[in-house]
Amino acid sequence: MAGKKSGNASNSGNEAAGSVLGTMSGAAVVGPDSGKKVLPADLLKKIVGGAELAAAVTHNASKPDEFLRPGDDTPHIPDAGTIAAPASPQATAGTVSEAIVSDKTGGAATPGYNAVGGNLDRVRVDSGRQALTTNQGVAVADNQNSLKAGVRGPTALEDFILREKITHFDHERIPERVVHARGSGAHGYFECYKDLSALTRAAPFAGDGKRTPVFARFSTVAGGAGSADTVRDVRGFAVKFYTDEGNWDLVGNNIPVFFIQDAMKFPDLVHALKPEPHFGMPQASSAHDTFWDFVSLMPESTHMLLWQMSDRAIPRSYRMMQGFGVHTFRLVNAAGESAFCKFHWTPLAGTHALAWDEAVKIGGADPDFHRRDLWEAIESGHAPEWELSLQVFSEEQAEGFDFDVLDPTKLVPEELVPLTPVGKMVLNRNPDNFFAETEQIAFCTAHIVPGIDFSNDPLLQGRIHSYLDTQISRLGGVNFHELPINAPLAPVHNNQRDGMHRQAVHRGRVSYEPNSLGGGCPFQAGSAGFTSFPQPVEGDKVRAKPEKFAEHYAQARMFWNSQSTAEQRHIIKAFRFELTRVQTPAIRERVVSLLANVDEFLAGSVAEGLGFAVPDPAPEIGPVVRPVYAPSPALSLTAYPGDGSIRTRRIAILTTDGVDVAALSRICDVLLQQGAVPRVLAPTLGAVKGAGGKPAGGWQADITIEAAPSALYDALIIAPGEASTTSLCENGLAVEFVKDQYRHCKPILVIDTGADLLDRAGLPAVLPTGDADFSLINVSADQLDEGLAQFIQAVGGPRELDRETDPPVV
Ligand code: HEM
Repeated sequence: MAGKKSGNASNSGNEAAGSVLGTMSGAAVVGPDSGKKVLPADLLKKIVGGAELAAAVTHNASKPDEFLRPGDDTPHIPDAGTIAAPASPQATAGTVSEAIVSDKTGGAATPGYNAVGGNLDRVRVDSGRQALTTNQGVAVADNQNSLKAGVRGPTALEDFILREKITHFDHERIPERVVHARGSGAHGYFECYKDLSALTRAAPFAGDGKRTPVFARFSTVAGGAGSADTVRDVRGFAVKFYTDEGNWDLVGNNIPVFFIQDAMKFPDLVHALKPEPHFGMPQASSAHDTFWDFVSLMPESTHMLLWQMSDRAIPRSYRMMQGFGVHTFRLVNAAGESAFCKFHWTPLAGTHALAWDEAVKIGGADPDFHRRDLWEAIESGHAPEWELSLQVFSEEQAEGFDFDVLDPTKLVPEELVPLTPVGKMVLNRNPDNFFAETEQIAFCTAHIVPGIDFSNDPLLQGRIHSYLDTQISRLGGVNFHELPINAPLAPVHNNQRDGMHRQAVHRGRVSYEPNSLGGGCPFQAGSAGFTSFPQPVEGDKVRAKPEKFAEHYAQARMFWNSQSTAEQRHIIKAFRFELTRVQTPAIRERVVSLLANVDEFLAGSVAEGLGFAVPDPAPEIGPVVRPVYAPSPALSLTAYPGDGSIRTRRIAILTTDGVDVAALSRICDVLLQQGAVPRVLAPTLGAVKGAGGKPAGGWQADITIEAAPSALYDALIIAPGEASTTSLCENGLAVEFVKDQYRHCKPILVIDTGADLLDRAGLPAVLPTGDADFSLINVSADQLDEGLAQFIQAVGGPRELDRETDPPVV
């Protein structure tokens, strides 16, 4: 037995090793004096170092901070925990053998470093010049044949290579998100215009020009992961900021309000919206009975329904839609002062929408339309940008508003609280791997950083729970924060341990706090850490809503009154479309009874399309005060036209043999100079011949008219050339192409003979109002440059919505 007093370690500190030599197999080596046992040097450092750390702590000095002190009214933020520096790395090691270095173990830990975090370089894979291996790193000699008993014999069970490959394949899918399953994302950065520390201590706003890396994901809500991009739906707009002080997720939508007022109703809303459970239809569409049944019984959804039926729900591109945090949040500065805040993202490309008929057709022609658009814009160097603005207001101001800022079915009109631009987001890098990044990213409203805090919005409060909870199922356990895309850049140190798929290898025996054996680390950060804003709370425990939550129509009316005539037309048509798909007459009528509380013309027009008279307005909920709002111009998509540029806009150039090659070259040159994406369309692929069947200087069709129909393009040019036009006039697909461009109100430029195709398609030369149609440009060959200039202006501006008639004449 080792001596109890470790007397054999006298001159080497062995006494301090305490009872370690009392263990059954306690390590000891023969000391310099023959026959005496001493501890190996590293073990001694570990044990003595640990003992010294423990001895440095006589009591838990942080304990008093946990309690109110006599005379204190409010609790105070605890001081940072007391820590002690270990005398050597061994003092906090799990094993002294960490000094043994191998290619696998690497060396000893870097003090204070958690290698699971950090940038993606540590996990990026490139297989160039590498042999194919199994997951165990064994090189695979033959990737074509399974192992068989004779060439015509059965496969051997021992074929571990086949079994590993098939087993992995069998488990490649993970559950899709319960909502927002269909999405696309990109990396980029947020740049703060100027220091906002007077308002918030949040890290992204901590300095003029400060940049914070971000990953943004845009999504639809209702459809499955493989559904079409252009369905009518709310779009998710989620941004993860990898800040110096941890991850902050702003998980918003492209619409600033929501259907419901309390998280308790979210599962009901989603059950009603998703495909009906008995037959699993319809996919990615709200146009069915259960959705409208539910919302028609939830009058608080009326405001959101108007937004959802507006062109907001069929954006032209993720790059051309606004984003909103929806809820009221808090900003808190270093002095602990707080203000309420709403977050707004505004696209620099302006807000643009599709036509409904176009969205439907794109759904068939290219279900990945938005995903492709985002990807291609970034690949071609046109990084999309959004400006972040804040609406900041005090609690006192909020009390004076005639709506409740905790009610997510209400917005704060810009006339009441103007927007302050504070920075911009630039998305400039596509993911390397869709699954590893876009699919595995886990946004969560609970991810906030010092300087940002929640409000008591009951929808937000429920969301704080939901995201982490659902991701445990979706991403298979509690350690998905270690997935490279989710890991913060800020260091992670805590005492959470174990769980499925744990990647961090924690050293030492300490996984609790307070501790003395780990030198008190990781220590609580005190005022340097996150502290909740100490908002006073009082009241009985109740299940009820505040009074102002009961008013449901005033802001819906403000939204309606803020829309342009064309936007109003589209809202009416969307309601008619959706409710026509509804099979149950009583549900249709209930929806119109909600609209009757918003606007007589709206309700009447929807009812007319559905073939019934406007029913009585839905009954009021008790004696509520209905505020009256003036129209708010910012609520119209027309408020954000963008900078007039045509960068990234897809322009179809209809051609076929006999095209005027010089004109075609000039058209493409000019469009490319503007950053647009011209595409030469012809009936077949291959070389396009010039006049008289001459070779056309290498011009090839990029794609056929059949494979890429009209809806996929922002504008059309019919290239000149007599034979070419004659041939296109005989091609029903070309004629249809032109008609759709017109019907979708897109700019059309025809040069010279191209005009014949307009006649063939029966396009009116002027608008139905009798006014000139500046987006239908018809020029002679010698006016090509003037025509192109006018065309570029039209493409960069709003669509010519005055072409619309009901029903369409073309
Ligand atoms: C109580 C109400 C809500 C609940 C319980 C809820 C729940 C969820 C759940 C479970 C997911 C899937 C998350 C995942 O698997 O990673 C999700 C995704 C999402 N939610 Fe909500 N949600 C609610 C309201 C909202 C609201 C009001 C907004 C907009 C402000 C919103 C925006 C989003 C977005 C953008 C995503 C997709 C995030 C991504 O791109 O991965 N949700 N929500």
